[in-house]
Amino acid sequence: MPPSSDLKFLGKRIVLGVSGSIAAYKAVGLLRSLVQEGADVSVVMTDSATRFLSPLTFEVLSRHPVATDLFAAHQEMLHLTLPEQADVIVIAPATAHVLAKCALGLADDLLSTMVLGATCPLILAPAMDGGMWDHPAVKAHTDVLRSRGVTVLEPEEGPLASGREGKGRLSEERVILAAIEAQLRPRRDCVGQRVLVSAGPTQEAIDPVRFISNRSSGKMGYAIAQVARERGADVVLVSGPTALEVPRGVEYVPVRTAEEMCKALTSRFSRSTAVIMAAAVADFRPKRPSSGKIKKSGMTWQNLELEPTEDILEILSRQRTNQVLIGFAAETEAVVPHAEDKLTRKGLDLIVGNNITAAGSEFGSDTNAAVLIDRTGRVTELGLMPKRALADRILDAMLALGPSSKGSARKPPGRA
Ligand code: CTP
Repeated sequence: MPPSSDLKFLGKRIVLGVSGSIAAYKAVGLLRSLVQEGADVSVVMTDSATRFLSPLTFEVLSRHPVATDLFAAHQEMLHLTLPEQADVIVIAPATAHVLAKCALGLADDLLSTMVLGATCPLILAPAMDGGMWDHPAVKAHTDVLRSRGVTVLEPEEGPLASGREGKGRLSEERVILAAIEAQLRPRRDCVGQRVLVSAGPTQEAIDPVRFISNRSSGKMGYAIAQVARERGADVVLVSGPTALEVPRGVEYVPVRTAEEMCKALTSRFSRSTAVIMAAAVADFRPKRPSSGKIKKSGMTWQNLELEPTEDILEILSRQRTNQVLIGFAAETEAVVPHAEDKLTRKGLDLIVGNNITAAGSEFGSDTNAAVLIDRTGRVTELGLMPKRALADRILDAMLALGPSSKGSARKPPGRA
């Protein structure tokens, strides 16, 4: 036994889903290895998995009751508590049916309901008979899952339970363990990056009581700040008013107006390697805010004169030396053309476009389906995923783009 500090999965909580394939017996070995490496593993079996193996086997090895029944589990709210507490969910073996349910968001048993409620990483290790893996439906489901950031391992070639040869064997245990380790290992690839993140709405005063603002919750910017910090970056979070907790280890600069946000960002810009503008900056502010509260009695609002706020990204774009500039485009239609226009107009390296009227991508939601467009014109459509997973994809793109140079990004008009 290695000393406990050397255990790979010490202190990690793993949910192991087992579905109905003959390869279910291999999940026993996987469970033993996970437990030996210090993991606290809860096993969830589908109904058909219990036809291949008894839950008792997994209960003895995991030292936890095995959950199989959605309705029994409901009593303890296991479909919610298990994924909430898990650091990773691994389904091994995952049948073609389970793969399809995860892709489609179906939730007719404990395992699939749990997957739908989970925000932690999900790993699927498929196992199926020859030919099934190559079916267009299975391929489409695999593609959808991968586009959402789910790890779907490639099954292996070789003799299958049916006696045929083909691609469909469950990945070797060491491959599944490596995938789990990769998900649990904190990535430190942002060490050396100094990232300025803006988040939330701005508020533009009409008088000391009233203001113009928008529906931004700040969740996307806060997720980026948190994930960048976890990956080793020094992070400054310049945030308009939100109800969110400031992520640990992040320098927090609270602001209220577009003008304050602009000052906070421009004054820190030269020290940063990248700026990620997730804030929903108000485009206009009242031209003459009243210093006293405007009384309603005896007056009607004929009009409220507004003036444009400073376009912060455009200002930063003109000041840039070699910082990577990343903007957002929250649209209600024609996301890609609008986002491409902003990428060019503001001289950005990357823009994250999304449709705020699409289900799951509305203001305030915990998920988002975005499209990434980079300075070379490459368009990457991402499926609906938790904002933390999207934050990872944006940071991956930031690192891949490398330091920017005045010549490499799209030029805003009027720039030398
Ligand atoms: N942005 C900015 N300063 C502003 C307005 C927006 O820096 N005054 C940034 C946002 O943080 C976002 C990007 O610019 O990263 C695009 O914002 P958006 O409001 O979608 O674009 P606008 O240029 O304001 O265009 P429109 O409102 O007409 O869609």
